[in-house]
Amino acid sequence: DKGNHRHFMEKEIHEQPEVISHTLANYLDFSTSRVGAFETPFDFAKIDRLAISACGTAYLAGLIGKYWFERYARLPVDIDIASEFRYREMPLSKESAALFISQSGETADTLASLRYCRSEGLPISAIVNVRESTIARESDGIFPTLAGPEIGVASTKAFTCQLSVLAALALKAAKARGRITFEEEVDLVRQLSEAPRYASQVLKLSERIESVARELSHVRHVLYLGRDTNYPLAMEGALKLKEISYIHAEGYAAGELKHGPIALIDEQMPVIVIAPHDHIFEKTVSNMQEVAARGGRIILITDEKGARKATIKTLDTIVMPDVPEFLSPIVYALPIQLLAYHTAVFMGTDVDQPRNLAKSVTVE
Ligand code: F6R
Repeated sequence: DKGNHRHFMEKEIHEQPEVISHTLANYLDFSTSRVGAFETPFDFAKIDRLAISACGTAYLAGLIGKYWFERYARLPVDIDIASEFRYREMPLSKESAALFISQSGETADTLASLRYCRSEGLPISAIVNVRESTIARESDGIFPTLAGPEIGVASTKAFTCQLSVLAALALKAAKARGRITFEEEVDLVRQLSEAPRYASQVLKLSERIESVARELSHVRHVLYLGRDTNYPLAMEGALKLKEISYIHAEGYAAGELKHGPIALIDEQMPVIVIAPHDHIFEKTVSNMQEVAARGGRIILITDEKGARKATIKTLDTIVMPDVPEFLSPIVYALPIQLLAYHTAVFMGTDVDQPRNLAKSVTVE
């Protein structure tokens, strides 16, 4: 049932404040602003590496998780696309643990990666949305996302719930490894518990984003740029756009621009820059200047401070609420989902059932 929505994807985008909140409540104690007492199948204090493996959007969630585990818990993360991981004969230390991420819990390559880690004797955990799935059953412990059934083929609410679990796990790891103080824990948990409220604010920008999407629906190619956790988000933005609108899109680390993709920039090329006013903002702005100097059409997704400081002529600016840096990937996922959604609606594609795609990829 789509309720008042035209598509399941639109409905699922709008469910995010609620399902993020449900998911976080499973891992955080809102009353004390502490990390919850949930079980983990290994001790974060006793491992020296975490190996993450997943496909598609779930892989991009894991890539954001890597930044969090390394930054807050000083835990090194190896992350791979599951179809590569399963064949690349990676040496795994006995002090490693494995984490798989899958909405369906049935993705063939992710499952094969899990079985490889099992044969290597690693403790196995999984972030899954379907608790009865094969990946859930074959794990030593699971971290469920409470997104509810996701019908739209393009993953939206499962992605932000995966991010919510990863953020909570990074805090759990930071605590276990003695990397955050009591005050820092309380502060970060408080910030994270605000994610649903920020997500609701962003949903109000839907019409504004729709007007940007009208422009996008006339182009053939789009480039997405971002740094730090906005780099995986740039790739997620490109993935979402290509899979439902069939517009060719690529996501790049902004710093890689001059190593190749800058050759694509001309007066036709829209470049979507994801740049909240964070610790790396100035660096992204200098990449935007390089795009502007070549006539590229910039669509900037930033906050008020970022909009004030980026004195570059943009085609459009989407002004987001001011979000603490830790949870910004969860909140900035929404405008890129809405942009892809509205663009696809303008193009008249089958948004919930895009051509050639299956919701659950059970063959390799
Ligand atoms: C993209 C998308 C896919 C899935 C991927 C993994 O919108 O939905 O990239 O994320 O096929 O699927 P799961 O999470 O079920 O393993």
